[in-house]
Amino acid sequence: MGMRKARPFVNGVWIDDDREPIPVLGPYKNEQVGVQVTANKAEVDQALAAAGSNKKQIAALSQAFRAKVLYRAAALLEERREEFANLIAKEVGKALKNTRDEVARSIETLQLSAEEAKRLFGETIPGGASERGASSMALTFRVPVGVVAAITPFNAPLNLICHKIGPSFAAGNVTILKPAPQAPLIAAALVELLLEAGMPTQAIHMILGEKEIGEQLVQDDRVNLVSFTGGVPGGRQISKTAGMKKVLLELGGNAGTIVHKDANVERAAAICAKTAFSNSGQSCISVQRIYVHEQILKTFVAELKERTAVLIVGNPEEERTDVGCVVNRQTAERIRNWIDEAVAEGAELIHGGNANGASIEPVILLRPKKQSKVVCQEVFGPVVSVLPYHDLDGAIKEVNESEFGLQAGIFSNSLEVIRKAAKELEVGGVVVNGSSNFRLDHWPYGGIKNSGIGREGPRFAAEEMTEMKMVVLQDLL
Ligand code: SIN
Repeated sequence: MGMRKARPFVNGVWIDDDREPIPVLGPYKNEQVGVQVTANKAEVDQALAAAGSNKKQIAALSQAFRAKVLYRAAALLEERREEFANLIAKEVGKALKNTRDEVARSIETLQLSAEEAKRLFGETIPGGASERGASSMALTFRVPVGVVAAITPFNAPLNLICHKIGPSFAAGNVTILKPAPQAPLIAAALVELLLEAGMPTQAIHMILGEKEIGEQLVQDDRVNLVSFTGGVPGGRQISKTAGMKKVLLELGGNAGTIVHKDANVERAAAICAKTAFSNSGQSCISVQRIYVHEQILKTFVAELKERTAVLIVGNPEEERTDVGCVVNRQTAERIRNWIDEAVAEGAELIHGGNANGASIEPVILLRPKKQSKVVCQEVFGPVVSVLPYHDLDGAIKEVNESEFGLQAGIFSNSLEVIRKAAKELEVGGVVVNGSSNFRLDHWPYGGIKNSGIGREGPRFAAEEMTEMKMVVLQDLL
């Protein structure tokens, strides 16, 4: 096969004129893996105009049809699992073990979205609860918002697109997709697959490019809802410029997990090692801070180190690799600097840290300062900090001392400890006897504080991507 080329898809046309394509570099070897053609302002405008004029037509498609298309897309992806898994590994450096999981999850996300297309239920609300409503009744319906702008990140470049296009189409919307500039090839491959599955060309547009292109979408009044997954600065900018449209933001985290003294230490360490370093820590819920009760600290650190030391760091496209690389060399350098800074500020380097290009050997830091960047900011890399605590209140307080609030974990066998943590941890989701980094695609996913606004997961996203419409019946039933 020749070199892959990603092109914008606007108003039913793959745009491919004589403009110079931009190389897409795979981060592991820093070699070209494809090319992309980026969209210009006029093409974004064309996508917006087409989306605005086609939204009624897409809203009128039957729910059964929308479900069928999404089921077909899931089936096609199932047939091409390996091809997609290999492409993600090549394009963003995520290890094949992780990309196979991502493809499996994407199939499920599309299937779940198909199911939601059939479940856009409303309610009947009798008027009799009010003295004035004796012979009236309200019916509520879910109607599509219209045009959804979906801006997606590089770290799960397939599944996080499915989490936006799936529910958006299920709900009867037109989607304008703007994928991460680092992952245009996978986005283009998915759009082709959706069209092959029968998604009408009027229901999907894809524009490629840097953040100015996204800003044009966010500011335009023909867009009714912006769904963004990415960093806090991007989220803030969208909130500021989106005007009156709905905004869903799935932003970052510096997720904390507590390992209490009564926990199964071996199990907790094994889970933490796996979920701190999978996808090189590039997940918004990756375990970044582990608060460990001082009585079990020594055993926990030894177990964590043992389980981390066996992880194979290497070529993301090889079967044996556990940890691939981060998205590019500049990011690896930034992470390396943060590690050095934490050590200079007093952290003990327990394991790892060797770097080669975009690859970083998983790092365990013990007792970094609260103010070190590896603790209080989002690392988005293979770095975990172990912080001992004396009492549970203190550990919960420290987890909560964060600008973020996406997910947290608590390992304990005490119902009282679990109850307290579940109640007091300030996050969108608490995982009991697991780390912060556990998500099933049908669950509500999203955070509080700077971690975002709204929830993903096809059922929740499809609801967010509709408006409630009420019809009042008087003297009828
Ligand atoms: C994310 O980084 O927010 C995605 C995490 C996941 O889907 O597992």
